Amino acid sequence: MTEYPTDDSKPTDGSETTYASDTIYARHAPVFVLWACRETGIVDTLLEAPREPTEVAETTGVTERAAAVALDALVALGFAEERNGEYRPTDRLSAFDPETPIEERGILPHRLDSLEKYLALPTAMKGGDRPGFSETGLENYAAGMASVDGSLLRAAVTATEHAHPRPDCVLDVGGGIGRFGTEFARRGAAVTLVDRPGVIELARQHLEGSDVEPVPGDALESLPDGFDLAFCGRLTVGFSPAENERLFENVYEALDAGGTVACLEYVSGRSSIAPMFAVHMLAMSETGGTYTEEQYHTWLGRAGFVDVDVRDVPGTDCQLVIGRKPE
Ligand SMILES: C[S@@+](CC[C@H](N)C(=O)[O-])C[C@H]1O[C@@H](n2cnc3c(N)ncnc32)[C@H](O)[C@@H]1O
Repeated sequence: MTEYPTDDSKPTDGSETTYASDTIYARHAPVFVLWACRETGIVDTLLEAPREPTEVAETTGVTERAAAVALDALVALGFAEERNGEYRPTDRLSAFDPETPIEERGILPHRLDSLEKYLALPTAMKGGDRPGFSETGLENYAAGMASVDGSLLRAAVTATEHAHPRPDCVLDVGGGIGRFGTEFARRGAAVTLVDRPGVIELARQHLEGSDVEPVPGDALESLPDGFDLAFCGRLTVGFSPAENERLFENVYEALDAGGTVACLEYVSGRSSIAPMFAVHMLAMSETGGTYTEEQYHTWLGRAGFVDVDVRDVPGTDCQLVIGRKPE
């Protein structure tokens, strides 16, 4: 397989500037190619059966020139392979196969959906509307959430357990399809996962037979109560400051006295990811952004939490914002 040049590739022709060192182009060009292949149906037609370029042109309506160029690009990017003039998908392309279970699809389909939102960023920056998600957008989003790196997941749960050792009853607020909730359950907690109804439907399929109970709800309205730990993973970055104040009021009510709230986030001024993540939220949604330590201190303090602290999660570029409900 031909390797696509990476940012680290060394110039091979002695020149100062190579395609590979053109960092921005090298990053966005593959995403655009993949996006175009998905949108034109080239990805779907390849997933159906091995194809020659002329067949791809016939079934999708792209020109023969485009089919040949796109297929070779998919090979160069590792999404297809060519044998005797026929192109067939590699495992990497199965991320786009609706038959592939959500938890195995990875974040790529969601990244392509995000691309459409980034293209509309100039409009969004002037207060205009963002494009909606495609039909499969929610599944792609869920697959993206599920692709959280295992070492980050374990480091975050361990850091949370340092703040609140051996929790019995955990409320996973905005828990997605339950990667974090499942890790708390694996370590012995009874876990209730609250998320929006559409996500809960997907979570149910994923969590069948597990010790995590998925419950539909709106964390900005109300939450179930009786928990000693509330975990919010990458949730506050989706809300406005006013919504976060409301969230923490509801989380406070959900906790028993002595309970702990722990939020895994990219804290502005602490995480190098935060500035670009704020851009991501600007592109993706009406609300959201990254927030400073001071903002978290203010919101948690106003809700009644004490011992508020922002800690780096070891080995990651994320922080854990914690607070305790007094006894
Ligand atoms: C970025 S995802 C994080 C999922 C998971 N906690 C993780 O870290 O992988 C944010 C989640 O919050 C959920 N969410 C957003 N607004 C919510 C609300 N008002 N009430 C409950 N869940 C919400 C979204 O549906 C989504 O599943």
